[in-house]
Amino acid sequence: MLNLIIIIFKKMFFVVFGMVETSIAVLEGDGIGPEIMNEALKSLDAVEKRFGHRFHRTTMPFGGSAYISEGNSYPDRTREFCMSVNSVLKGPLGFSLEEMAKVPPDMILERTALLPNRKDMGVYACYRPGILPKEFAFFSPLKESVIGEGIDILMIREMLGGNYFGDKIDGEENGMQFAVDVGRYDREQVERIARVAFNEARERGCQLTNVNKPNVMATGRFWNAIVDEIAGGYTDVKLTHVIVDNMAAQLVMRPTSYNGVVLLENMQGDILTDELGGVMGSLGLTYSAILNPETGKGIYEPAHGSAPDIAGRGIANPYSMIGSMALMLEHGFGLNKEAEAVWKGLKNVFGRGYLTSDLAGNSPTPIPPEKIVTSSRFGDMVRDSILAT
Ligand code: IPM
Ligand code: MN
Repeated sequence: MLNLIIIIFKKMFFVVFGMVETSIAVLEGDGIGPEIMNEALKSLDAVEKRFGHRFHRTTMPFGGSAYISEGNSYPDRTREFCMSVNSVLKGPLGFSLEEMAKVPPDMILERTALLPNRKDMGVYACYRPGILPKEFAFFSPLKESVIGEGIDILMIREMLGGNYFGDKIDGEENGMQFAVDVGRYDREQVERIARVAFNEARERGCQLTNVNKPNVMATGRFWNAIVDEIAGGYTDVKLTHVIVDNMAAQLVMRPTSYNGVVLLENMQGDILTDELGGVMGSLGLTYSAILNPETGKGIYEPAHGSAPDIAGRGIANPYSMIGSMALMLEHGFGLNKEAEAVWKGLKNVFGRGYLTSDLAGNSPTPIPPEKIVTSSRFGDMVRDSILAT
C-alpha cells in the first residue's frame, strides 16, 4: 500500500513539474558502438541531473554481438522490449573481420536485425541532418568558398519502402542466373512521408527539394505526382524537383543551395545521406532519428557503421551517438531545451578546439597534442559542459 502511494506521489510530482520519467531501450551495437554509447549515456545522465527527468535504460542484445553470443542477432525478448517502449537508442551494427570469417555467408545483420527492427517499430521517416556552420568549414574536404555561410540541410529519407523492403529473388531461367529486388511504393507510404517533409519545411520556413528518378523509374513518376498533389496543401512551401544523379553532383558543387529540407526515397536516400556525410568531412558526424510521427515511436542512431578497425582504442568520436541522443530528447519526448543543452555542450567542446584522433586529420593545421582527447574524455567534457551551462 505504502509502495503504491509512493508510486502515485512520484508520478504526480513528475507530471506537476513537467518532468519525464520513462523507459528506453539501449542497443549498444558492435565495434565502436558500446564505446560511443557509453559517452552518450553520460550526456543523458547530465540531462537527468540538470533537468530532473528520469530515463530508465534497458540494454538488450542485438546485432553481431548477439549473434555471436546467442546465435540470434534479434532475439524475441529484444523485439518485444523495443516494441513496448517509445524510444530505442541504438549504436551501429557490423561484424569485425575475424567474426565475419566465422559466420555463415548468408548471415546478414541488415536483413536479420536492422531492417526488421525498423519495421517492428513502424518507423518510416528518417531524419538525417547535415549541419556545418561556417566556422567549422575546415571539417569539409570542400573549399571554404563552397561551404560559404554554412550547410544546414535536413535530409528526410523514406525508411520502410522501395527495393530495400520488397521481395528478394535469386533464380535461374533457361540456364541463366538472375536476381530481382522488388521496389514498390504504395500511395499511403508516399503521402505520409511527403507530409512529414512539407510539415518540417513549413515549420522551419525553408524550401523543400524533392529528389527522385522519374525519367526512368515508375516509382519515381508515382512518387513525384503524389508529392505535387500534397504540395497543393502547402502553397507556402517552395518545392523544387531534382533528379537524383544531378543531385549527387549538385551536393558537392553547391551544397548550400539545398539548405532546407530534402526529401528522398529509401535507397537514393541511403546513398545521398552518406554523400552529405562526406561533404561534411566525416561519416562519424552523422546522427539520425527514424520516426513514426503518428505513434511517437523512434529509433535514434548514428548513420555510420561500426568501424571495427578503430574499435576498442578509445579514439572514436561520440558526436554521432550524442547527437542521436539529443534527437531522442527532442522528437521522442518534446524536450527541446534539454536537446539544446546537449548541442551547446557539444559545440562548447568542439569550440574549445578539442577533437578525438579519428577527426584530428580533418584539421588544416596541426592540433596541439593536449587538444586530442580520448572518446571517454570527450564524453566527460560534453557531460560537464551540459551540467555547467
Ligand atoms: C543506413 C545503413 C542501413 C540502411 C543498412 C545497414 C541496412 O546503411 O542506416 O544508412 O541502408 O538503411
Ligand atoms: Mn547507409
